[in-house]
Amino acid sequence: MNLIEKTLSTTLATRFADQVEFRPAQVTAIARELGIKDGEAYKYTTSFPKVRRGVYNLESVVVPLRQIPNSEKKSVASAVQSIVNSEIFVPAKDQYYVPWGNSKDVEMIVKSGSFYPTFITGLSGNGKTTMVEQACARTNREYVRVQITPETDEDDLIGGFRLIDGETVFAKGPVIKAMEAGALLLIDEIDRGSNKIMCLQGVLEGKPIMIKKTGEVIKPAEGFNVISTANTKGQGSEDGRFIAATIIDEAFLERFTITLEQPYPSMSIEKKIIVKHMDKFDCKDNDFADRLTQWSETIRKTYEDGGVDDIISTRRLCHIVQTFSIFNDRTKSIDLCISRFDADTKEAFKDLYALIDNTTEEADSSESAGVDIDNILDNAIYSTEG
Ligand SMILES: Nc1ncnc2c1ncn2[C@@H]1O[C@H](COP(=O)(O)OP(=O)(O)O)[C@@H](O)[C@H]1O
Ligand SMILES: [Mg+2]
Repeated sequence: MNLIEKTLSTTLATRFADQVEFRPAQVTAIARELGIKDGEAYKYTTSFPKVRRGVYNLESVVVPLRQIPNSEKKSVASAVQSIVNSEIFVPAKDQYYVPWGNSKDVEMIVKSGSFYPTFITGLSGNGKTTMVEQACARTNREYVRVQITPETDEDDLIGGFRLIDGETVFAKGPVIKAMEAGALLLIDEIDRGSNKIMCLQGVLEGKPIMIKKTGEVIKPAEGFNVISTANTKGQGSEDGRFIAATIIDEAFLERFTITLEQPYPSMSIEKKIIVKHMDKFDCKDNDFADRLTQWSETIRKTYEDGGVDDIISTRRLCHIVQTFSIFNDRTKSIDLCISRFDADTKEAFKDLYALIDNTTEEADSSESAGVDIDNILDNAIYSTEG
């Protein structure tokens, strides 16, 4: 048996525990995941005894392979699993998603099927990833998401050699899979990467690329497109808020056709998102939703004016709602969710909430009566600074 035959036999034996009869199409599908050419897989399958039209009996190879000791079998199965784990799928529609801002445009881009690399920039937790995912869900488009970290390299993105049953096999990475499937590739948090992601440059041009490790040339299928998200515009982050944000190569950024700037949602949209989350976690409280919205809006304004170093993101508000569904206590939910901030900031955020919500125990009714919202945080902040 040559390497290809051995790899195919092992994979079929472990993945189809009881099956001995196979159709060439079934084997070809597996072969593709392993980076083996269709023709090779066809030749392999049809070299076995034919049972009936289009069906071959592979008993002679798969049965003996199943009789390997249990311990060894397990390690083979898990190695195979990590390779065949398909990252491509149409995301499920989220009934609690609230479309707003760039949603419509992203949806149109995704729906167009054009190769139209799009860069979405905006602060953390304002719904960039969700927006792209839901655009695919709503337009029924296949989607592959790769999360970029400083460690991400060509091996993770394009693919690399993996050891299966003692043999080395090339496993295609998510970028190649997206290209071949004509799916939407979401490169999430691209400004966290190092120069090891420069291998994506060719991909961003929409041209065929060569997998250096195997020499295979991959042509992007119809419909392939790339959307990237980032907290910065790729120029690094002056205020140090995104320490992990790197400066993206200018030529690399130039490959993106457009850049969408994503702010935090307006108060009315954010309230809708909070209310939907309350529906999701079955803890509807319209009054709490109003106050949370007012609270986060005030904090964001103060942040923009340089009054505080931290901000409450939409994601954090959603976390507060979930926490509220568990403890049914407004103050405690806020407290638990803002504990990650430094002591002064946390105290200021808490005080502000108490002022906005005079129904909570911590609220001082004399102070909150008729207080101008814009001044609340200033007071809260400066009182904690002394
Ligand atoms: N438009 C929205 N509708 C409903 N929930 C949202 C929306 N935008 C953000 N969220 C909530 O906020 C969380 C964070 O959003 P995410 O897309 O991960 O932000 P980003 O990618 O910008 O950091 C999501 O998991 C979701 O719970
Ligand atoms: Mg994200």
